[in-house]
Amino acid sequence: DFLLLLQKSLVALFAAVAAAIVVSKLRGKRLNLPPGPFKYPIFGSWLQVGNSLDHHDFIKYAKKFGHLFLLKMGQRHIAVISSPELAKEVLLTQGKAFGSRSRNIVFDIFTGKGQDMIFTDYGDHWRKMRRIVTVPFFTNKVVQQYHGDWEAEAAEVVEHVRSNIAAAAAEGVVLRRRLELMIYNNVYKIMFDKKFESEEDPLYVKLKSVNGERSRLGQSLEYNFGDFVPILRPFLKGYLEKCKEVTRRRLNLYKDSFVEERRKIALVEEEKDKNRVKCGIDHFLVSQQNGEINEDNVLYIVENMNVAAIETTVWALEWAIAELINNPETQKKLRAELDAVLGPNKQVTEPDTHKLPYLQAVIKETLRLRMVVPCLVPHMNLDKANLGGYEIPAESRIFVNAWWLANDPARWKKPEEFRPERFLEEESNVEANGNDIKYIPFGVGRRSCPGIIMAIPIMGITLGRLVQNFELFPPPGQSRIDTAENNGQFATRMSKQSIIVLKPRNIA
Ligand code: HEM
Repeated sequence: DFLLLLQKSLVALFAAVAAAIVVSKLRGKRLNLPPGPFKYPIFGSWLQVGNSLDHHDFIKYAKKFGHLFLLKMGQRHIAVISSPELAKEVLLTQGKAFGSRSRNIVFDIFTGKGQDMIFTDYGDHWRKMRRIVTVPFFTNKVVQQYHGDWEAEAAEVVEHVRSNIAAAAAEGVVLRRRLELMIYNNVYKIMFDKKFESEEDPLYVKLKSVNGERSRLGQSLEYNFGDFVPILRPFLKGYLEKCKEVTRRRLNLYKDSFVEERRKIALVEEEKDKNRVKCGIDHFLVSQQNGEINEDNVLYIVENMNVAAIETTVWALEWAIAELINNPETQKKLRAELDAVLGPNKQVTEPDTHKLPYLQAVIKETLRLRMVVPCLVPHMNLDKANLGGYEIPAESRIFVNAWWLANDPARWKKPEEFRPERFLEEESNVEANGNDIKYIPFGVGRRSCPGIIMAIPIMGITLGRLVQNFELFPPPGQSRIDTAENNGQFATRMSKQSIIVLKPRNIA
C-alpha cells in the first residue's frame, strides 16, 4: 500500500512539475521575457544560481545571455542591466517607471515596509521625504556651513595618529576605526549637532554596535533563499526575529538618546528664538509638527542616514587608502600636487580641493575600480514595463551593473589598472555626477545619491591631509594591502580591516 501511495505521489508530483514547466514556458512566451537560465517550478533558477549574486556573477551571466537578462529566483524576478544604453533607459528615460525600490524580506523589516526614504516606492511619500532631507543635508549651503567641521575632524585624525606615531610607524594601526569615528562625527554634527569625543564614548560604542549588527544582517547573502523561495521561509524564522529585535533596539536608541534629547533642547531654545532651526533633526521635527510626516518617519530618516552616509564613505576611504599604498607612485604624485598647490604649511580645505585635479582623479579612480555600491541600490518597476524589446514583469528587482559599465574593456583603456591619470587624459570629461552613463558610482536620475555633495569633499579633505602629513605603507612584512573583496547585498568593501603603517613626513 505504501509503495502504491508513493508511486501515485511521484506520478502526481511529476505531472505537477510538467504542468508547471509548460505553464511557465507558455507564460514566458506570452510575456516575451528577457533571456535567462533554465527555470524550475517553484525554485526558478535558484537551484543552479544559489544565494550568492554579485557584480562579478552578473558579468558571467551577461556574457551568456546579453545586456538584459532575467533571473527568476523563486518568486522574485531579477533583471540585470549591463549596457550604457539600457542603463540610461532605466535610470533616465524611463526613470519614473523604474524609480521604485525592491526590498527583500530583511529590508522590509528594517524600513517598516518602506516608511523610510531610500527603500520606499517612487511617489508622493518618497518626494516628501527627499525634500525634507535635502535642505539640512544636500545643498551647497550645507557644504559651506560644515566644511570647517570636516576639516577639523580630519585634523583630529592626523593628531590621533601623531600622538602615537612610534607605534603607527613601526607596527601600524587599523586606521579605519578612527576614520569611522570621523565620519560618524561628520554626519551626526549635521543631523544632531552632536560630537563623539573618542572611540570609547559609551553612546558611540552602543550606536556602532547596533548599526554594525544591522549592517551584517542586511548585507549577508545567506538569507537570499528565504527571500526568493517563500516555502523555505520557515527556515529563516530565527534570522528574521533577530532582524526585528535589532530594528527595535536601533530605533529605540535613535529615539531615546538622540531625537528626544534634541526635542528637549529645541523646546528650550524655541522660547528664546522662534526661528531657531539648527540641525537636521530640527527640520525633521518641524515637518512632524506640521503633520507632513509622522514620528516613525522621523526615526526612519535617522536610520537611513546612518546606513547610507557612514559605511559607504568609510569603505570608499578604505579603498582609496589601499590603492594609494599599493600604488606608491600615485601616492607620491598626489603628495607632490598638494605641495605644489598649497605649499608646505597649508593644510588642505574644501575650497582647495577644487584646485587639486589629481586629488579629484584619485577619488574618481577609486570609485571606478572599487565601486562601493557596484549595482546601485536595486530599482523596481511597480507595473509591467517594456525594456530593450522585452517585457519586464511588475515588481522586478532591477540591478544596473554600474561596476561593469565602468570596467568594461570595450569602453575603458586597461580598466583593471588603478590609473587616476585616465580622468585627466582620455576621460577628462567624465564627472562623478553621472554626466556620462558609463561612470555612475552614485547612480543618476531621480533616485541617484544626494550624498555625493558631501562624500566627495570629505574624501578629498581626508585623503589630502593624510598624504600631506604621512607616508602610507602596507603592514610590516607585507608588500601590499590585501584587497580581497567582501560582496554583500548592495555594497563591496575590503574583506580585511587592514593595518596601515604611517610615517611622518620629513618636513624640513
Ligand atoms: C543612494 C552611492 C554616500 C545618501 C545611493 C545610491 C548609490 C550611492 C549608488 C543608489 C543610486 C540609485 O539607486 O540609483 C554612494 C557612495 C557614497 C555615498 C559611493 C560614498 C562614497 C552617501 C552619503 C549620504 C548618502 C554621505 C548622506 C549623507 C544616500 C541616500 C540615497 C543614496 C539618501 C537614496 C536616494 C533615494 O533613494 O532617493 N548612494 N553614496 N550617500 N545615498 Fe549614497
